[in-house]
Amino acid sequence: MTENELKQTLKSDVDVIDGALKRYMRRSDNLQSPIYEAMEYSLFAGGKRLRPVLMTECAKMCGGDINEILPFACAMEMIHTYSLIHDDLPAMDNDDLRRGKPTNHIKYGEATAILAGDALLNKAFEIMTEYGGGAKNALKAINIIAKSSGTEGMIGGQVIDILSEGKSIDLDTLKYLHSMKTGAIIRSSCVCGALLSGEEDTASVDVFALNLGIAFQIRDDILDVIGTEAQLGKPIGSDEEENKTTYVTLLGLQKAEELVKSYSRAAKDALAPYGKKADFLLALTDYLVNREK
Ligand code: IPE
Ligand code: IPE
Ligand code: MG
Ligand code: MG
Ligand code: MG
Repeated sequence: MTENELKQTLKSDVDVIDGALKRYMRRSDNLQSPIYEAMEYSLFAGGKRLRPVLMTECAKMCGGDINEILPFACAMEMIHTYSLIHDDLPAMDNDDLRRGKPTNHIKYGEATAILAGDALLNKAFEIMTEYGGGAKNALKAINIIAKSSGTEGMIGGQVIDILSEGKSIDLDTLKYLHSMKTGAIIRSSCVCGALLSGEEDTASVDVFALNLGIAFQIRDDILDVIGTEAQLGKPIGSDEEENKTTYVTLLGLQKAEELVKSYSRAAKDALAPYGKKADFLLALTDYLVNREK
């Protein structure tokens, strides 16, 4: 697949996802309406939409109906956006720029930012349960998504991340942390895309996502050191400022880059059973792990 073809498919996926996100954010005018403005501020600030794209494309690879997957794909982006709003709070990573704009708490204050994050999390489960019933294995997928965002997934990883600040942790702990804070919802996006399409055996998709998630977060650690704020749309040097152990602090840039390559290789190898149907996801993996933003 050429880079142009990859970008075209990506753009058309993102357009469909953004259209659905806008529809799901419709509301009537009332006293609490200002919270929607804070939710939309972060939701439509220009994220890559990686998790919903992964879900959509895993669904396509498994022969699924995209319209039935959409509420789940949008839910993943809402959960991810909520995690970013909270991740940036002064009590957590204390960052002031996200997706090229002042962070939610800088714009609306901490109380509204906390509520906007909470509201996006709840909205995610509202839309899955309201519009997702037509998809195969819907209830099972909702359960997987809940677990992957919770204490045994993203939140669990964030807890370890915060508790590890200023401490030295070993590579195994760091890998565990990354596979939870970032890997878990990348994994559930991919596995649920397959599951919602009626795929019986999601093991290969799971191995793909597990490895992609780790490669993606190592690349994020690298970009925190070598990236630019203008390109990333978020501050660089945040990890060092918060005294985090990352793949770069533990192994150095070169070894971290080698690991991105080996995890992405393992991710792509896992999709071998899907043959040509995996072409887009293979190209997306290369694109993501070489990304500059
Ligand atoms: C940022 O995720 C947080 C991590 C888990 C590394 P993304 O790099 O996908 O951020 P957006 O959605 O494009 O803003
Ligand atoms: C965040 O990891 C993962 C989340 C669950 C939000 P980081 O703290 O490294 O993400 P960035 O670099 O702020 O996007
Ligand atoms: Mg963080
Ligand atoms: Mg952060
Ligand atoms: Mg980071």
